Amino acid sequence: MVVELGAGTGPFTAEIQRRLAGRGRHLAIEIDPVLAQRLQHWHPRAEVIQRDVGELRQLLYARGIYQADVVISGLPWALFPLDTQQQLMADTAEVLSPAGAFTAFTYAHAVPLVAARRFRALLVESFEEVVISRTVWRNMPPAFVLHARRPRKKPVPSQ
Ligand SMILES: C[S@@+](CC[C@H](N)C(=O)[O-])C[C@H]1O[C@@H](n2cnc3c(N)ncnc32)[C@H](O)[C@@H]1O
Repeated sequence: MVVELGAGTGPFTAEIQRRLAGRGRHLAIEIDPVLAQRLQHWHPRAEVIQRDVGELRQLLYARGIYQADVVISGLPWALFPLDTQQQLMADTAEVLSPAGAFTAFTYAHAVPLVAARRFRALLVESFEEVVISRTVWRNMPPAFVLHARRPRKKPVPSQ
């Protein structure tokens, strides 16, 4: 079960589909209606959902999905305000299976930005393991990838 956040023009979508090779299930969430329509056309095996990722949990639960094996983000996290970052990170950690992986990317030039630093701090708070890739200089603009594993589930409050 692969969940893609902010699928955009679809380069991650294409690679996920290539690696799934007809197996599994792939939900691609994209807010832009034109991009979402194109994605569905080019990747008919993916389930493209034209909605805001702020509704992540409801979107998955409504489809009978309670755990994802992989969440892959193409979202511009550094542009999101703090409360949106916090909510989306909590939802991502919540829907990810204990053995699952969350992958996001950050542009190298955004590293010093407060919101980008906040995003990395939030990742470390939300996951037991966070590994940062080398910078991918061939990407335009250069970027790196954050791999997070072992979500820290929020304890259920005692009665
Ligand atoms: C950096 S771009 C696309 C990344 C994608 N991997 C690509 O190369 O096209 C980020 C995408 O996230 C989408 N997006 C931004 N905020 C979103 C939201 N709240 N819910 C769903 N999609 C969102 C944008 O519409 C955009 O297509």
